[in-house]
Amino acid sequence: MGGGAAAIPDSLAACRRLDQADPLAALSRRFRLPAGGVYLDGNSLGPLPRGAEAAVRRATAQEWGRSLVGGWNADDWIGLPARTAARIAPLIGAAPDEVACADSVSVNLFKLAAGALALRPGRRVILMAEDEFPTDGYMLQGLARLRQDICIRRVPADGLSETLSADVALVVLSHAHYRTGALADLPGLTARAAGAGVLTLWDLSHTAGLAPVGLDAAGADMAVGCGYKYLNGGPGAPAFAFLARRHHAAFENPLAGWMGHARPFDFAPDYIPAAGAARLMAGTPPVLSLTALHAALELFEGLDPEGLLERSRRLSDLFLARAAPTLEAHGFRCVSPARREARGGHLAFAHPHAYPVVQALIAEGVTGDFRAPDLMRLGFSPLFLGRADVWAAADRFARVMETGAWRDPAFSEKQRVT
Ligand SMILES: Cc1ncc(COP(=O)(O)O)c(C=O)c1O
Repeated sequence: MGGGAAAIPDSLAACRRLDQADPLAALSRRFRLPAGGVYLDGNSLGPLPRGAEAAVRRATAQEWGRSLVGGWNADDWIGLPARTAARIAPLIGAAPDEVACADSVSVNLFKLAAGALALRPGRRVILMAEDEFPTDGYMLQGLARLRQDICIRRVPADGLSETLSADVALVVLSHAHYRTGALADLPGLTARAAGAGVLTLWDLSHTAGLAPVGLDAAGADMAVGCGYKYLNGGPGAPAFAFLARRHHAAFENPLAGWMGHARPFDFAPDYIPAAGAARLMAGTPPVLSLTALHAALELFEGLDPEGLLERSRRLSDLFLARAAPTLEAHGFRCVSPARREARGGHLAFAHPHAYPVVQALIAEGVTGDFRAPDLMRLGFSPLFLGRADVWAAADRFARVMETGAWRDPAFSEKQRVT
């Protein structure tokens, strides 16, 4: 698939024709998706790949159920984190030994940031954008409370390049912003940071499995990312962490658990780190969750991330065109970049009643999500959505707004998870 905007289909029949001719459209059959629904939230939780469902069934009934503790060897549970990391590596432009699959994004960010400070002794500042995903900031604040001698400096994302001073050890930034979906200039900022002696830690939660990342080509130092969004690993799936090979020898994991030890079953009193990014592991891997993620990653075999991003953008182009009259008539303001080249996989629209509108859409079978204080966020995952789905979603959005269905007080009752 080449770049650039393609002609936008102007009827449901045209959407269906294009879907039929699209080689990627067949991939949707490899997921369990609600009949008649349109799932625009794969950027928050990917749907269930049929292969993952079967793998988890096998891992419980045959492996855990029959092998018991022997599964660590007989079913190679012990090798599962590395086998999973090896499937993630090509999606982010890394070598298998540069990726670990473990813990959550939050915990991995802490480990990498703490280790980064030790790689840049004398530099006491961690720089990050002021509107980053909250957990990234919380984890760094926690690190600053522990260390006491460091500080977190928060600046607008477009001011990061100008703030790479000699006291900065590390810059932390999302590749695609969780609210707007805006793509950061990963190679550009990485190069400018390297020129200033600053390490980079990229949060790839909203690009891994969606877009080309090219960590090694850009010379990035570190990265983290989610397993449960575009990688479709399931609720609470393990996250991943990337550590460039040139840092392997010197990097120290502050959470030096036995699974990051070179020989955990020596039960030696002293810690010797494992080779490569495997030293980023800490405790026992969650085998069932990893099994689901490992199987889900099979879907990406032979796929080109450039083509996936282009497909996602064609879907978001279609939504923008088809929903334009509704968006305008009802005062929605798109906060995602207008330029498609600057866009990741989701669109967000500000509206004072975004919460009940999202709930009313869900009741119509169109699942998106709400991000406080006022955003309706819709994701255009390239693996399982087609043009006909997006056409239907725009039509149902128009119906919800035109009928005023969202005004039903039940849709304003806030749930714990939005
Ligand atoms: C950009 C970003 N970073 C981090 C996280 C949280 O990751 P985890 O729950 O694995 O710590 C999210 C979750 O949505 C996210 O969007």
